Amino acid sequence: MLQHDVVIVGSGLAGMSAALEICEQLDVAIISKVYPTRSHSGAAQGGVAASLGNSEPDSQEEHMYDTVKGSDFLGDQDAIDILTRDAPETIYKLEHMGCVFSRTKEGKIAQRAFGGHSHPRACYAADRTGHAMLHALYEQVMKRSKRITIYPEWYLMSLIVRDNVCRGMVIYDIRNGNLEVVRAIGVIFATGGYGRAYKITSNAFANTGDGIIAAFRAGVPLEDMECVQFHPTGLFGQGILVSEAARGEGGYLVNGKGERFMEKYAPAKMELAPRDIVSRSEQKEIDEGRGIDGKDYVHLDLRHLGKEKIMERLPQVRQLGIDFIGVDCITDPVPIQPTVHYSMGGIPTDIDGHVIIDDKGTKLTGFFAAGECACISVHGANRLGTNSLLEAVVFGKRTGIAALKFAKGPRLPDINEDEVLAPVKEEINAIFTSPGTESINDIRNTLKENMMSNCGVFRGKEGLEKGLKKVRELKRKHKKGKITDKGKIFNNELIEVLELGHMLEFSEVILKGAIARKESRGAHSRTDFPKRDDQNWLKHTLAYLTKNGIDLKYKPVTITKYQPEERKY
Ligand code: FUM
Repeated sequence: MLQHDVVIVGSGLAGMSAALEICEQLDVAIISKVYPTRSHSGAAQGGVAASLGNSEPDSQEEHMYDTVKGSDFLGDQDAIDILTRDAPETIYKLEHMGCVFSRTKEGKIAQRAFGGHSHPRACYAADRTGHAMLHALYEQVMKRSKRITIYPEWYLMSLIVRDNVCRGMVIYDIRNGNLEVVRAIGVIFATGGYGRAYKITSNAFANTGDGIIAAFRAGVPLEDMECVQFHPTGLFGQGILVSEAARGEGGYLVNGKGERFMEKYAPAKMELAPRDIVSRSEQKEIDEGRGIDGKDYVHLDLRHLGKEKIMERLPQVRQLGIDFIGVDCITDPVPIQPTVHYSMGGIPTDIDGHVIIDDKGTKLTGFFAAGECACISVHGANRLGTNSLLEAVVFGKRTGIAALKFAKGPRLPDINEDEVLAPVKEEINAIFTSPGTESINDIRNTLKENMMSNCGVFRGKEGLEKGLKKVRELKRKHKKGKITDKGKIFNNELIEVLELGHMLEFSEVILKGAIARKESRGAHSRTDFPKRDDQNWLKHTLAYLTKNGIDLKYKPVTITKYQPEERKY
């Protein structure tokens, strides 16, 4: 049995930020299914928000208001206040760690415009901001490598909770197939989002919601899972991110008739309206036959920016277009479509990362979450671009501080090793001894198609119910999945079967929540309930796993400063 005072699962920005707070005083470990510098935080491109006011006057209040409005008033305002208040200090701290932000002529941190923000407040490192931040933090972790133990390429199998106390977890060593029980006083999940259940997504292969499902199976409800963000500019057919920075720098969107169609939908903000609005506008153009050549995409035109600006500010965007769809944005418009990008929903937490299991604020003792897997909720029903990198670092740090404080108290909990290993062994054994009549690839592809067409940018009752029925059918098939590799060394096939099981399970939660929420709010856009309904739906969904399936409950939104109002851009 392994043991540490605090164990963090996930090695992205949130996980590493938490570890750095804990390591000087307690024994901390980071467990990750990927090598830390391959964490998905590194894929974020366009910037990290803070009201530094380096290119025009800005304020924390405006950042907060933009975020509340962007969330379609589902965001919890106490948490948004902290997010936006701590932002400037967070950026300067990263700068002092050596994060290579781009600069203004005067040498200040450069800031660009982003969707839904009323001022240019995205601090950026060209279009590799997440990458720059991830490496800056990883250097700090490496500097403390004697104090922070890293377990790379270990896979989370289960969370151990007894009597409402989190005691640790069971993990699987991908390199050799060994199982280990890990005992910990405090456990932090920073396991990322769940976009891989969709066919078109900017998410890394690793984003299969493993942490979210481990928590769910251990009795934790999942919050607002129906709020899945589509980013307006994914490379057509691939979903790979074309940063919103491209529009922040002046790029525009054009339909098959050569029109800048955003004029119709958000005349004041145009292409820099929030993501939910731009994605819906694109999808409408496509659905009504105004895609390019009547196909399922529109164009992002950057040609007028010129080669010099593109090479300085958007080099990765250009290279991804060339590498993945053979289009050079310097000379040609880029075919793009909405792509699943971010999970607003997740594990409910309070403002210090304590996991909360009901509408009364009851904590699950010793269990914390931060980053995309957590739902604090600073993004409500729609996240503004650049607020996720910020959230990961601000709340990763806060969660680290809270876990440190907590873990100084109790002693390491007792765990009956055989008891916690038994169900995990059973799960793996069931996969190895399954009848093997169903193709895992087919199940995964069908799930992705299903989520895309029945629970996409627009969703309606009929499609959602069809989607739910299909997911339940796929869950049954998954039990009979075929696995050819029954070995122990780097058995990626086994990991894929486990990941698919997680995707099926949370897809059911997404669909159930989406069927129940009879309104349109942020990224949740119901064709049959096109209006926001504050009277009945200004509340967070909480989905519980029960013996009889998924049970939905609700909890109020925290409103401190800004009352809901109509969202206009
Ligand atoms: O478009 C982007 O560069 C993505 C940024 C974000 O999701 O915050």
